Amino acid sequence: MTTTNSMTLADQFRHRPAVRSAIETIGAELRSAQADITGVRPATDPSLSQCLDQVMKDATEVRGRGLLYPYLGSGIGNGALVELLDGSVKFDMITGIGAHFFGHSDPDLVETAVEAATADTVMQGHLMMNEEAIRFAEVLVAEARKSSDLKHAFLCNSGAMANENALKVCYQKHAPASRVIAFAHCFMGRSVTMAQIGDSAGGRSGVPLSTLVDYMPFYSHVAARRMSAGDVSGSTRYIDICVEHLEQYIERYPKQHACFIFELVQGEGGFNTALPEFHRALMDVCRANEIAVWADEVQTFGRTERMFCFDALGLGDMVDVACVGKMSQVCAALYTDNYNPRPGLLSGTFLGSAVGLKVGRRIIERLRDGGYYGPDGSIVAHYREFESRVRALAAAHPEWFPHGDDYHDVVAGFGGMMRFTPFGGEKEPILHLCHELFKAGVIAFYCGHGPYHVRFLPPLGAMPVEQWKDVFDVVTSAMSTTASQVSV
Ligand SMILES: Cc1ncc(COP(=O)(O)O)c(C=O)c1O
Repeated sequence: MTTTNSMTLADQFRHRPAVRSAIETIGAELRSAQADITGVRPATDPSLSQCLDQVMKDATEVRGRGLLYPYLGSGIGNGALVELLDGSVKFDMITGIGAHFFGHSDPDLVETAVEAATADTVMQGHLMMNEEAIRFAEVLVAEARKSSDLKHAFLCNSGAMANENALKVCYQKHAPASRVIAFAHCFMGRSVTMAQIGDSAGGRSGVPLSTLVDYMPFYSHVAARRMSAGDVSGSTRYIDICVEHLEQYIERYPKQHACFIFELVQGEGGFNTALPEFHRALMDVCRANEIAVWADEVQTFGRTERMFCFDALGLGDMVDVACVGKMSQVCAALYTDNYNPRPGLLSGTFLGSAVGLKVGRRIIERLRDGGYYGPDGSIVAHYREFESRVRALAAAHPEWFPHGDDYHDVVAGFGGMMRFTPFGGEKEPILHLCHELFKAGVIAFYCGHGPYHVRFLPPLGAMPVEQWKDVFDVVTSAMSTTASQVSV
């Protein structure tokens, strides 16, 4: 890939028939090997089970603490199905918390990775990079520009670092403002600063507090429903109250807020959604007061009904800064021209691996061209199927889905961020269920800080809609086991 008609040695090498054919052979062999992975199956070979047990012990020793699940991948899978080190096969409905949208052993991505692995170095950095880093950033920015003024991307290795860079950009633009506004129950990553902004007591336990954060309530469908009275809808009242709340902060600390961080659909906080007009009303206040509007899309990127959630919610015109990660493989802070920082603020040894950049670019191209988005896209079809299967389960077993006055729907989410809420959203039975799901063959996780929910971030790029039936057969069996073991 060069910009002239001449070819570098690297191009010539990549085009050698022997290299092309070796890559294609790996792809073909992979397709044939993964064809044996057709459904959930238990471990049957005792020596492989021993191997997994041993590595689990090694993991506990070297990490200083055990893993949540006995999950250690063997390194092969087939779409949503993944083989573990003990030879068992499970449905992966959480994908490394949203990182593997195209599932396991996607032959096209493996071939892309193999080609990228022939590059001269493993990692690329901000002082010395290959063309691939620029092409990755270009394709990402091109998608963002379709619905926003975001124009530049700074690449880095984790969502937390993308957020750290975004925060610096906001601070520099609005210096000396030093406060940030964030939503209650937000999650932003595990660096010292992000752990402070993220609204979880456990996540910042023992971390000295140096960042000044003002918390705003996130949208609550339950509270808004309760506020409905007369001609005024509950949502209007709720939004008005939140706008007033925000204005109070700004009045209390004039010109001291650098940014408001919008996690447009809360991830760790419970897959909480908000009306677009809620976000827009708060963003309008930010605009009026020169406070940067920053969308943390590390978990939402690629997964909702548009590539960017701000686009899905019609908010692209309001966004100054945005961060992406997870399924993009390489993470990034994006910003408008107006927020482009001065030289010296952002850099780093690494910006990503050669494999991550090439595969990440391919992923974004496939997301763009694969018919995933919009009202007729496959993400909407998947969500509908998920929702109807949860509702059918709840109708067949209302005893598994008790709820009190504080009624949260049994199923919610947005696109490929899917949650369901059995057992009244209580923590213990939900965690128990996650372990039973794992044993039965579905890897899932929980989210929320109460109520708790079962969370799916499925590999929709690798799943036929029909596969939900097989997933829900396992879910039903694990729910039944859990219900017989826990008291709700
Ligand atoms: C919204 C959000 N922001 C930031 C992060 C941090 O990303 P990373 O774990 O790659 O540092 C996450 C991770 O789950 C996230 O969900």
